[in-house]
Amino acid sequence: MAGTCRIRAAVVRQVPPGYRTWMSDQERSRLERIRRPVDRDRFLLGTGLVRSMVSELTGLAPQAVPLDRTCAECGSAHGRPMLKGLPWFASISHSGDVVLAAVTDLAPVGVDIERIDPKRLGAIESVMPTADRSRLAGLEGRQRCRAGFQNWVRRESVLKAAGDGLAGPVRELEVGDPASTTALIRYPRRDATPMRVHDLAVGPEYAAAVCIADAAVYSVDMPTSIRGDVKTPSTGTTPGGE
Ligand SMILES: CC(C)(COP(=O)(O)OP(=O)(O)OC[C@H]1O[C@@H](n2cnc3c(N)ncnc32)[C@H](O)[C@@H]1OP(=O)(O)O)[C@@H](O)C(=O)NCCC(=O)NCCS
Repeated sequence: MAGTCRIRAAVVRQVPPGYRTWMSDQERSRLERIRRPVDRDRFLLGTGLVRSMVSELTGLAPQAVPLDRTCAECGSAHGRPMLKGLPWFASISHSGDVVLAAVTDLAPVGVDIERIDPKRLGAIESVMPTADRSRLAGLEGRQRCRAGFQNWVRRESVLKAAGDGLAGPVRELEVGDPASTTALIRYPRRDATPMRVHDLAVGPEYAAAVCIADAAVYSVDMPTSIRGDVKTPSTGTTPGGE
């Protein structure tokens, strides 16, 4: 199905048994090096969610999905997930009990999820550009905390869609009005197509966002709750602008 962004979320401790058998040698050896069971679950789930979505969208068997995480910087297997040789893009994020993954054929994609923790708000606000910080200024308490974390996941989803991660311009990236659920982002120092970021609703404890490196994508369906392996509807683009 062309013109799709499919997003799926799942909770740790509920890894379908098939996910392990789908893994590549690269994934298996990375899994063996992960010590904490919860981190193993997160890795297994992210991998399995991407493989199952690409399988559904392309007809490939999940184990035949050419998912590769070779780091462009150092060659280790901890890099951006790439679907080698396929016209599809993927992104994975994990925080707390939830793993979120996105697959699309529209443009490079980034997802990010964070469990909201008021103790980390100060650190998040300290890396916001002044314009974004002043947008939060009138908010208090929980509202401010949610808006701060939403700002952070937007920022990280954009950095992941660009492929830079935290090596990118974290402090310069303005991600806009907390009252809006979508924003058009210009990536500093890059003369590229503006990117579209959408907030995702994954429950009261989490902030999440997806960024697609294509300004035309102004509608993405999203998970409304996390309950086991939650399937979310897929959407395409709808013509239109801001
Ligand atoms: C990508 C990054 C932002 C992840 O941050 P995080 O909040 O700790 O973790 P998240 O759960 O949101 O995302 C992790 C996923 O991001 C993906 N990822 C890794 N590098 C990525 C990159 N450069 N761009 C986009 N996605 C990336 C991976 O899929 C990873 O999950 P997996 O390894 O289980 O598949 C951070 O690791 C980073 O900035 N990496 C790039 C810079 C870097 O350290 N490079 C090392 C060069 S040797």
